[in-house]
Amino acid sequence: MSSRAGLLGCAVLSAIVLALNVGMVAWASNCPPSEDNTKILYDGSCSTSAKANIAAHAAINVLSTLLLGASNYSMQIAMAPSRADVDKAHSKRRALTIGVPTLKNFRNISILRRLCWELLALSSIPLHLVYNSSILATKVATEYLVTELDESFLQTGISIELPGLSSTTVGQSGVMAGTGYTEVKALFDRILREAHAWENLTLEQCAQSYTPFLLNSRRTLVLVTPSTNDHRALPGLFRMVGSKTWMCDDRTSISPDKLDADGSAAFPCSPKRAIFGYRDHDTNWQEPSNPIYCLAEPHRQKCTVEAFRPFLIVISVFNAIKFVSILWLYFNSSTRHSKLHTLGDAVVSFLNHPDDSTKNLCALDKVPLEKKWRTRSSVVTVRWTRRSQRRADAISGIQCIVSIIMFLIAICGIIILLGKALSADNARGTLQSAFRPSSFTSNQNLAIVGFESLQNATLTGLVVLVNIPQLVFSVFYVFYNSLLSIFLQASEWNAFSLVCGYSVPLLLFSTSIHFLISQAIFLSRISFLDFLGRPSQRFGALGYGNMYGAHPGQLLAATYFSPAILAVLVLSITAFLALLFIGSKKLPGNMVMAAGSSAVIAAACHQRDSGPRTVLEQDSEGNHGDEAATKALKWGDVGYVLQIEEDVVYRHLQFSTRDVMEPSEGAEYA
Ligand SMILES: *[C@@H]1O[C@H](CO)[C@@H](O)[C@H](O)[C@H]1NC(C)=O
Ligand SMILES: *[C@@H]1O[C@H](CO)[C@@H](O)[C@H](O)[C@H]1NC(C)=O
Ligand SMILES: *[C@@H]1O[C@H](CO)[C@@H](O)[C@H](O)[C@H]1NC(C)=O
Ligand SMILES: *[C@@H]1O[C@H](CO)[C@@H](O)[C@H](O)[C@H]1NC(C)=O
Repeated sequence: MSSRAGLLGCAVLSAIVLALNVGMVAWASNCPPSEDNTKILYDGSCSTSAKANIAAHAAINVLSTLLLGASNYSMQIAMAPSRADVDKAHSKRRALTIGVPTLKNFRNISILRRLCWELLALSSIPLHLVYNSSILATKVATEYLVTELDESFLQTGISIELPGLSSTTVGQSGVMAGTGYTEVKALFDRILREAHAWENLTLEQCAQSYTPFLLNSRRTLVLVTPSTNDHRALPGLFRMVGSKTWMCDDRTSISPDKLDADGSAAFPCSPKRAIFGYRDHDTNWQEPSNPIYCLAEPHRQKCTVEAFRPFLIVISVFNAIKFVSILWLYFNSSTRHSKLHTLGDAVVSFLNHPDDSTKNLCALDKVPLEKKWRTRSSVVTVRWTRRSQRRADAISGIQCIVSIIMFLIAICGIIILLGKALSADNARGTLQSAFRPSSFTSNQNLAIVGFESLQNATLTGLVVLVNIPQLVFSVFYVFYNSLLSIFLQASEWNAFSLVCGYSVPLLLFSTSIHFLISQAIFLSRISFLDFLGRPSQRFGALGYGNMYGAHPGQLLAATYFSPAILAVLVLSITAFLALLFIGSKKLPGNMVMAAGSSAVIAAACHQRDSGPRTVLEQDSEGNHGDEAATKALKWGDVGYVLQIEEDVVYRHLQFSTRDVMEPSEGAEYA
């Protein structure tokens, strides 16, 4: 495919993505707004909203991959030098880089192409930063009333007396300020009327259902105690609670309901049975009774999927910038001055039009040709020494060490984050449940980054925080990709046959890491409801309500998910090991090291064998490397003695369609 057709394809692709993004903006504009001006795309059951959220992010993933891929392809085309660029640089005795992504050519391409390249590069940053956060799912955490009741209430219903329910006991039960006796009394009346029809759970099932922090399908809980005739104390213990700590035993802890910095109860326990624990609650604490089963009020929480319209607009604007840049590149890529994208392109071009400035340099590697090379008139021969190199030799030793250190630092960073996440999970007691397969699609997990320290962070701050890992990964990926291209190009040059099977796994790798990162740390909105479904205003393990913010009962938070961090770690280490493995492979053949240097390629294309000038002759000027033709080429000593001067015999190394010999050790070449 020619680069022009490629650019047209990219322009069409980015136009399609643009249309979808603008459509998204339009759709969101017609959706009902939430309190703080996000648009509510979906409002309904929590499990559906969790799935819709994952689907929306997968769609975003595909769109952004397409868009960034089109942008990347166009950037490479913008940066690839044309033959005219190469000739100009060679006339100043400088080599350009061909076939591998690099910034080296930057100063040697036209200003407008450079501008397009820069626009394409810069417009990727906002996309990386906000695309994933333009849509978010709201989670709901609810407080609930838990009470002990004598089984006989099931028969008597509303007519049973509850002498233990007074404004004093209600005041001590953790009810939020402003909720009075009447509301609690009304709730108890509802229990007496309706609880017989609620879900009947064993104490074990009950403890399990009420352990997660985000209760989605149940609310009020009755611990049914054996029937007695003594109703003086009814109801038994009752509490408004926001976490499982009411089931924990601890008589020594002074303020057991405090939250730690991660938003988990500072007081970890994993209750097995739903029964009030012995706690150091308050002065009027009474002995818990022994319930026999529990009745749980079925309750459908409403969760939402919301869109931030300003983010969608930002995305559309930068998408449009990409579209225009790609279109400009398309209209300005003339068919005559075609670019040298690959080794094949360059070889064809130099074979058809040999480059005078690199005559007699056929035995030099990339490195000596990085410096300005000497003038043509003085021929200096090179004594051949056998080349036995690894792919990684295509980069300098320092580059190699710096790259390894950078990758190791990145991997250590992920390990540290994973360690922190796991220890916070452990403190919260959710370590095991987080790693169950079902946890990937449920939204029962709530692991907040910096619960207290980030409490007053702004929306933009949180969005940037959760998306910085994406940006960091993208930078590493570009770096990884260019190293890999260099290694693969090195073996392509040596084998002189084309390798292309690697780009699909690479694309899959990048897409899945982006997706996993978006599942590892992400933005969530959590609504905290009190036991009656109003915004909660309490703070602490009795109620998570954020009572300080502008929206009581709501928290916008950066949340994380440890298994996804683990998956990112495993994938990154695999990728790093793969790179080491690929780089350390021995290169076949005994050949000069080109590493994309236009000078080395040009020098190998001077035809000194007197045979026909290869089939490539028919390839009209500037057309792309004919793969079949370049594949038929071999590089080596064509056996022609070129020049005899003061007893020295020079031989020549070149590409040829004929049989060639390996360069002989110790012979002089030029
Ligand atoms: C290419 O870049 C070099 C600096 O690396 C500069 O000196 C030279 O003028 C540039 N050549 C062209 C043709 O722009
Ligand atoms: C997250 O954003 C990146 C761009 O930085 C994108 O490549 C990736 O596909 C997105 N992932 C999801 C799940 O949205
Ligand atoms: C709940 O189940 C227990 C036994 O599993 C049973 O004894 C009890 O009567 C049931 N209660 C109601 C209200 O269905
Ligand atoms: C850019 O595109 C090339 C193919 O044109 C591909 O090999 C490479 O992986 C892409 N790089 C990035 C950063 O997506």
